[in-house]
Amino acid sequence: MDDSERGFTLHAEAVVESLFSDEQGIPAMGCQYFDPCDHGADTFTIAIPKVTFGRGCLHEAGARANGLGMTRVAVFTDPFLRDSAYVATVLDSLKQAGLDAAVFDEITIEADDASVARGADFIATGDFDGVVSVGGGSVIDTAKAAMVYGLYPTGDFLDYFAPPLGAGKTIPGRLLTHLACPTTSGTGSECTSLSVLRINNLSTKFVLGNPLLLPQEALIDPICCATLPAMVVASTGFDLLCHALECYTARAYTRWDKVDDPRKRPLIQGANPWSDLAARKALEIVGEYMDRGVNNADDHQARDQLMWGASLAGMAFGNTGTHLGHALSYGVTHLMHDVTTEGYTVKSPFVPHGISVVVSAPAIFRYTAEAAPERHFEAAGYLQADLQGAGSADSGEALAKRIIELMQKTGVPNGLNGVGFGPTDVPALAASTARQVRAIANSPRKTNLVDIENIYASAMSY
Ligand SMILES: [Fe+2]
Repeated sequence: MDDSERGFTLHAEAVVESLFSDEQGIPAMGCQYFDPCDHGADTFTIAIPKVTFGRGCLHEAGARANGLGMTRVAVFTDPFLRDSAYVATVLDSLKQAGLDAAVFDEITIEADDASVARGADFIATGDFDGVVSVGGGSVIDTAKAAMVYGLYPTGDFLDYFAPPLGAGKTIPGRLLTHLACPTTSGTGSECTSLSVLRINNLSTKFVLGNPLLLPQEALIDPICCATLPAMVVASTGFDLLCHALECYTARAYTRWDKVDDPRKRPLIQGANPWSDLAARKALEIVGEYMDRGVNNADDHQARDQLMWGASLAGMAFGNTGTHLGHALSYGVTHLMHDVTTEGYTVKSPFVPHGISVVVSAPAIFRYTAEAAPERHFEAAGYLQADLQGAGSADSGEALAKRIIELMQKTGVPNGLNGVGFGPTDVPALAASTARQVRAIANSPRKTNLVDIENIYASAMSY
């Protein structure tokens, strides 16, 4: 870690302190999770797109784009999907609906600022009035951000990102109408106002969040998951699991400050009654179908359910925010070593997003459970953990054991050791993670740099 990085870390930690007062941290014993809190929010906002779900619904792309008023469409996809049946179906459907379409596929498997810059040029010069994205989270996230930078160019890529990383500038106007068609069962990006992007010169990921980024419609066809390699289903499944689990255990929205201007209500607003509904169902789906969906590509019921669970979890975390699972994953992707993951057509170093999240998850939920034991206990139950004889005081351990069991059944790397990290990497991992200020503050338990180091140290293997 160099001096500039250390400086950034300390600044970020100070911001976390300011976001997380003692009074608003751990709910008082005996209180319901959403009980009012002095100066705390008393209102939450839910934003989701119009959703169409079902086997074969990709054939509706043309009719839906037409219904959204599109005439000339930018189709975003990636080089691996460019010649796939899914993209062919969408292009054919658009053509049959009388729409003009042009394809952009210069997107890397982990969306980055370079992909966005290329996509922004495509948007700026193509005279489009709509976007259809066909792919995983990287494709959908790139499409969202390409519209921002293509329509509203700015001198510094970070201008539209929130402080302390970015300048927090307002996006000046609306984006193009967006129909998002996911082809993996994990990110839920089709249902969120977020774009997660790797900033190459900082070697790490940050989240661009703005209500303008929410697609108007999502077309979710679980047939797209039928041919995914097992490890891709596992990685995206653990992404879905952690989205739902982090939503369900996030700091309550009533323990974030009330905002004076409703337009400034943050996307990361904390757990709320809506996100509870969607996260709970997503957890039940993971508990029932994760093992089956990963280990048997012919189990259409399981893979279809995981696709639905991923979208539900997207609807949840897009209106809640994630917390330590995702915050710590960005340290892993920042510093990932020379690792290749089975099932992915990509050069090393590469740790798939869902794997980067889940390797620390058991240690994280052991740590956060004391701040919201009932919630952790309920979540363990939704995931079908063995709770016989256990009480809420055991919730962190029960939840961790169930996650580890799912990791073992699906053959993902065993903790940080499994993706090339060791104890000497802990300070650098924690320093990188400390930049994820708002996500850290969305943890139910007040968390500082030493806590993050301790979590990483206990996440080496299980
Ligand atoms: Fe994620």
